[in-house]
Order: sequence, then structure tokens, then C-alpha cells
Amino acid sequence: MKIKAVSLFCGCGGMDLGLLGGFDFLENHYCSLPFQIIYAADNDTYATTLYNDNFEHKCMIKDVKDINPDEIPEHDILLGGFPCQSFSISAQNPPRLGYTDERGKLFFEIVRILKVKQPRFFIAENVKGLLSANKGKAFPAIIEEFKSSGYYVKYKLFNASHYGVPQKRERVFMVGFKEITDYDRFEFPESITLGEAIVNLESVINKEAHLEEKWYFSEKAVSGMLKVRHKMNKGREQNLQKPCNTISSHLSKVSLNSTDPVLKINGRYRRFTPLEAANIQSFPNTFRFSSVSENRQYRAIGNAVPPVLMWHIAKQLVKVCE
Ligand SMILES: C[S@@+](CC[C@H](N)C(=O)[O-])C[C@H]1O[C@@H](n2cnc3c(N)ncnc32)[C@H](O)[C@@H]1O
Repeated sequence: MKIKAVSLFCGCGGMDLGLLGGFDFLENHYCSLPFQIIYAADNDTYATTLYNDNFEHKCMIKDVKDINPDEIPEHDILLGGFPCQSFSISAQNPPRLGYTDERGKLFFEIVRILKVKQPRFFIAENVKGLLSANKGKAFPAIIEEFKSSGYYVKYKLFNASHYGVPQKRERVFMVGFKEITDYDRFEFPESITLGEAIVNLESVINKEAHLEEKWYFSEKAVSGMLKVRHKMNKGREQNLQKPCNTISSHLSKVSLNSTDPVLKINGRYRRFTPLEAANIQSFPNTFRFSSVSENRQYRAIGNAVPPVLMWHIAKQLVKVCE
């Protein structure tokens, strides 16, 4: 019997792919897990296009605020990688607003649906900044909301690079359990790639892209960046022997004027190709991104939960169900 899942804020489906498993990334096979997605929604047309190109179950373009819980079928697990912009440390301008901001409040939509549907589990995900947002008040308030919806909650801050992902992305996962016995049995996955075994950025870099002019920043962009670099920490060239710094949805910008990681190849700065960005996030090469523009691809990719990280967490949840 499959474990039935509902996915809110599904985006292009990084979290969902990790939940389902059944894909290869670099040298490893991530086996299928016994989940089935029966309902998925996101309000972004482009991310949903990508989702629907890649999953058997089709998602809806829908604002979460317009979802009536009655339209959601009964399910065992609710997924919600809710929007992070308002909690993110990198989103300094405007300053972090936390849960008083409209987008920060979207997690209440997860709570609204949990209260009615009461699935056995939920998994919510967000940026590290959630832990300190609103002078440290947002996170305990969020956990309290989940608890008052009838859940025992475990949470953990993960660094994706410790789980076979070539990126130092740090994300908080909150897992909720209706039953105390499930809560007691569940253990977050242990790090698998510490130290020597860490996956480096080089493993997902396409050397042929070094030869294509379109990926390089213009001389003007580079000289502009170099002028402000000392005070703004821009132009963050990556060490190919280490996992990459966190990529964001801003990768689509063609300027160097952001804190996003970039490559320095033979003295010249270039951005990642969409496929490199997808691989940095641990999407397999079989995931189809081509039906939307490159800008939209970068955006959906930068927003996603790394599938490989999610797979490790979902696998632990399967153990609870055995
Ligand atoms: C952090 S991303 C989710 C990433 C996704 N879980 C994945 O792993 O690929 C947040 C998503 O929330 C969606 N979103 C933002 N506001 C929304 C709303 N009001 N209703 C539905 N979806 C919304 C965005 O389009 C975005 O895809």
C-alpha cells in the first residue's frame, strides 16, 4: 500500500521527487520509496509547467489561500516547502520581516489545512533564517502552531552537502506526527558524506560550457563588481573542490551584482548553466527543464528542495510506517 501524499507549494517538484525516489544522481541510485502524490498545487505557472512535465500526477495552478480543504483528498502526509523570502538571511533588502510579512504568513495555510485534514505526518521546510527570524520569536511560534493543530514535532537544521548534494545549502525540516509512537520511532538521517566523501562542485561542472561565451559576464559587469566587491562581498567565485555555496532563485540575473555563487574560469567570471544549477541542487539529468525559459528554469531550480536531501529524510519516514 502506498503512502498518500499532498504537496503544497510544490514548485517544480524537488521535494516531491525526493519523496518518490527512483532516480540516479552522480554515481548513486536513489531507490523508489512507497509514496504516491495524489494532490499538488502551486501558484506559479512556470514551476507548475515543469512539475507537470516530470510527474505522473499533475499539479494545479492555485493560490494556496483559495484551497478549500474539502477539495483535498484524504492523505497520509502533507508536504509544504513554504515560501522563504521573508525569512531568508540573504534577503536583506527589505530587511527580514518574518512571520508578520504576508508571504511569511503562508505557513498558516499549511496549518489551516492540517487542522481539517489531520494526516498522519507532515513535512515542512524552510531556510535557516527561520530559526532567528523576528528576533527568534517566529520559529517557536511556528512550532507552537503546528503543535496546537494536533502534532508532535521534530525539527532539524540540515546542510545538504552532508547528504550527497554538492551544495552547502542549509535548510530546516520540521516533521509532524499525529501519533506519539510515530514521533518516538522517527529519527532524522545521519550525515552520509562528511569529510573526504563530500561531493564537490567540480563533479557537476560542464567543461564544454567553459567554451560558450553566453555564460560569461561582460567586462562591464566584472569591473562594476570589482569596485564594490571589498565591501559588498560580491563576485563569489567558488572553489571547485568543495560543495557550492547556496544557489538561489536570483541566479537568473545576468549581472554579477548579487551574492550568488559564480565560477571563475581562466580569469573570467561565468554563471552556472541551468543544468549545472539543477545538478548543484541534486536534480538528476533526466529531469526535464526545457519547456520554460532559462530565467524561469533558474528560478524554479533555485527555489527547490534538493531531491537527494529530501530522499534521505523521506526514507527515514518509511521506516516508521514499516
Ligand atoms: C520554496 S518554493 C517550494 C519549492 C518546492 N517545494 C520544491 O521543492 O521544488 C515556494 C513555492 O511557493 C509558491 N507560492 C508562493 N506563494 C504561493 C501562494 N500564495 N499559493 C501557492 N503557492 C505559492 C512559489 O511559487 C514557490 O514555488
